[in-house]
Amino acid sequence: MTASILPGHDPASIAAACRVLREGGLVGMPTETVYGLAADAANGNAVAALYAAKGRPKFNPLISHVTGLDMAETLGRFNPVARELAHAFWPGPLTLVVPRLTDCPVSELACAGLDTLAVRAPAHPAAQNLIAAFGGPLVAPSANPSGGVSPTRAAHVAEGLGSRIGLILDGGPCDVGVESTVIGFDGDKALLLRKGGLARAEIEAITGPLGRPDADSPKASPGMLKSHYAPRAALRLNATDIREGEVLLGFGAVSDAELNLSPTGDLQEAAANLFACLRELDARGVQGIAVSPIPDEGLGEAINDRLQRAAVPRDAE
Ligand code: TXA
Ligand code: MG
Repeated sequence: MTASILPGHDPASIAAACRVLREGGLVGMPTETVYGLAADAANGNAVAALYAAKGRPKFNPLISHVTGLDMAETLGRFNPVARELAHAFWPGPLTLVVPRLTDCPVSELACAGLDTLAVRAPAHPAAQNLIAAFGGPLVAPSANPSGGVSPTRAAHVAEGLGSRIGLILDGGPCDVGVESTVIGFDGDKALLLRKGGLARAEIEAITGPLGRPDADSPKASPGMLKSHYAPRAALRLNATDIREGEVLLGFGAVSDAELNLSPTGDLQEAAANLFACLRELDARGVQGIAVSPIPDEGLGEAINDRLQRAAVPRDAE
């Protein structure tokens, strides 16, 4: 079986995707960050099939995707800061981790048994339309085999998971290109659990300085494995030269780059290109990738985080 790829803007595709979801199936769903692998959040069997399709460890909980705060508040309890963040940045690349309501319909497997729930309203119109038409939350991890590079094109989803899912909605290339920023709470204090597509400064303008969870506290993001987003090629970061067996993945005005994340040094463009460039270099069969230095500010924080994880040898987990 190879998944059919349908145009995400077509109401008939949305209706077909809804039928797949109601039967407990899996749908490749475009979002503005990366493509997600969507399943009915309330259907434990569908969620189990999703973990199996990705080869994802069951201790790593999933994000529930909603149309907005109204639907989110039927699932979790929002403190005033969480509500303010949702008002400011939803729909958009921000995930909030909040306590589950006692009657939360999301499968406990999707939350890996935690009493908290990660929830996000994605901005992509196809995702919005799909969730609205389905009428309830959809869990959706990035639509790649666990540990691999996240997909930012419908074709990437088909490459990695096409034989395991029925239908992929094509929403074009993802605008943001890295996963959402994940924020949790210690009381009212906001904690940065995962760097992502919404820059720290934008969030801190509302919350003040973000805290960091203790590495071994249950509030830490359980999915943040050391090795992740890993291409086959070895990565060397902050490279100012090209060594034998390597090609250069450039940033800014550098010469001899095989590919360049953003020749003008634009961090938003670099984030949008990051995963597609890593895939392309893998497809070219390169052995080693030297990556130009990327400033650790704005979206650069998330880009560097993903590159650092991609550079860790897989057996180091
Ligand atoms: O942009 C995104 O967030 C994409 C698109 C598809 O929405 N999704 C995504 O999902 O990146 P995934 O499953 O690859 O990453 C979810 C992250 C993981 O790091 C997971 O550990 C964390 O969210 N997470 C989920 N539930 C959590 C919880 N209750 N407490 C803390 N972290 C949680
Ligand atoms: Mg992922």
